[in-house]
This record gives sequence, C-alpha cells and structure tokens, in this order.
Amino acid sequence: MTSSMRNLLSDHSRYVESFRLFLQNSTEHQCMLEFIEKKLPGLISSIGKGKSAINILSVGGGAGEIDLQIVSKVRAKYPRVAINNDVIEPSTEQILGYKERVAKASNLENIKFTWHKETSSEFESRMNTEKEFKRWDFIHMIQMLYYVKDISATIKYFHSLLEANAKLLIILVSETSGWDRLWKKYGPRLPINDLCLYVSSADINEILDKAGLKYQAYDLPSKMDITDCFIEGSKDGEFLLDFLTETCDFTNTAPLDLKAKIMEELRKPECSEKKDGKYWFNNNLSVIVVEP
Ligand SMILES: C[S@@+](CC[C@H](N)C(=O)[O-])C[C@H]1O[C@@H](n2cnc3c(N)ncnc32)[C@H](O)[C@@H]1O
Repeated sequence: MTSSMRNLLSDHSRYVESFRLFLQNSTEHQCMLEFIEKKLPGLISSIGKGKSAINILSVGGGAGEIDLQIVSKVRAKYPRVAINNDVIEPSTEQILGYKERVAKASNLENIKFTWHKETSSEFESRMNTEKEFKRWDFIHMIQMLYYVKDISATIKYFHSLLEANAKLLIILVSETSGWDRLWKKYGPRLPINDLCLYVSSADINEILDKAGLKYQAYDLPSKMDITDCFIEGSKDGEFLLDFLTETCDFTNTAPLDLKAKIMEELRKPECSEKKDGKYWFNNNLSVIVVEP
C-alpha cells in the first residue's frame, strides 16, 4: 500500500456520493425491501407483545430508506402501539437526508424519531457515562459493521440491550459475494487503517458461534452494474471503484500495478457476470437475525 491511498470514510462527502451511486447501480435496496416485505413480518411477530411502546434502534441508519420500510412493517403489525425509532448515525449529510425523508412521508403518525449524531462506540460510551441502560425491541445494523473498530464487542454490546422478545438484525455482504473475493485477495493492499474492516457473513457467523448466540441466516441475491468502472474517464465509474475498494479516489491514487490487478479481478467470473455487454458484480447479501 502506498501512503497516498486513503480510506474512503476519511472523506465523508465522497463516501456518501459513492454510496449513492452504488445504490443507483445495484439491486441492494430492492433485495432488502423484498426481504422486509416477505420475511420481516414473521420475524417481528412477537417483539411488541404486551408493550405500550415499541423501541427500535437503527445503528448506521444512513438516509433512512430502509429504516422507514422497517418502521412501517412494525407499524402494520402493531397499529395501536406507539413506536420510538432511534437512529445512531455519525454523518450529518445522512441525518439531513433521513430527516427530509421523514418530513415527506405521510404514514408515520405516532412514531417518534430521535437522531444521535455519533458512532456506535460513541453511543455506547455515552450510555455508560449517563448510566442509561435502555432496552430495545428491535435493533438493526444494516451494512455498517465494516466501520466499527471491534465487531465482536459491538455485536455483544448491542445484543446485551435486547428485550426478552426482541431481535437483532444484521445485514452485510455474503461470503459468496464478489466483495468477499475482492477483499480477501486485495484487502491487505488497500488502505484499511482503523476506519474499515473487510468482513463478510462468514466472519460474523464465526463471531456469533464463538459467543454462543443463536441466529438464523438468509441469503439475498443481489448484483451491481460496474460497467462504468471500465470506461476511461467515467466519473461514475471512479466513484463506484472508490466504493468497491473503500478507497478515496482509487483511480488516481492507487499504484498502477494494483489498479491493473483489481480491474482484471473485477472482470473475473468469481466477481462478476458478463451479460448483454454489461459487467454485473456479485453483490449477494446475508441477513442474520440474532435471538436475544
Ligand atoms: C453503507 S451505509 C448503510 C446505510 C443504511 N443502513 C442502508 O443500508 O442504506 C453505512 C452507514 O453507516 C454509517 N457509519 C459509519 N461508521 C459508523 C459507526 N462507527 N457507527 C454507526 N454508523 C456508522 C455511515 O455514515 C453510513 O451512513
């Protein structure tokens, strides 16, 4: 790794823009929405039993696209129960987007939103300092565990906050995805520092097994059109490459040999499928539902 490469998260605006392009070019949110539609109602069927209010905690909620779908499913299941939806999110831009989305939505009466502009570990420290040991009926960590310093400790902490009938839902890239292949092979040459960990579902399952926690896992097939990455000078392609490598301005800061190798890897069938002249990167996800 050369010193000029920086982790993408060190530039929050660029991170948010790359993430936006990733969402635009992938079926990431569609496959999550399908899961929320078909499977989530069954999984949350007892979280509100005997409750006067349901407390949901979103860790790394982003701009709220998925969060609001989750909240509306909980609402549909428990139409007469008040819902508190707390969000831990360190990015100001994402929180602004989330607030705008809530303001525009029409079906959120009786749902209270609270945003905590901080990371998951800052939230944990603050709770410990304030001696607040609030429990939650549903906690979700969707595509964010790459960004914590200690994944095992983070999972254990949030798991310890679950109510008796609650669930902890984790979504991240599957061990069958192109991400896993790319990161296993080239992660050591990318600017990992302490901002980002290249993990997939296999790592989380191992952590959960070691901790003796019970869980169920579901695969969500997903793909991402990365054709632009191979078009010289394409800005969209550059942002997508940043997101794939979690590197800020990968195209202009990566050593030439690494860039050539990664571009070659991305075209391989282990990472992408070539169809109708497009390259579809394997973006398979894993949903892991942990019992209290
Ligand atoms: C890939 S986005 C996922 C957003 C949303 N959950 C979704 O799936 O659309 C990751 C989010 O985690 C946030 N994040 C990064 N580091 C975090 C941390 N240490 N604790 C909590 N959130 C974090 C980022 O700001 C970003 O909004």
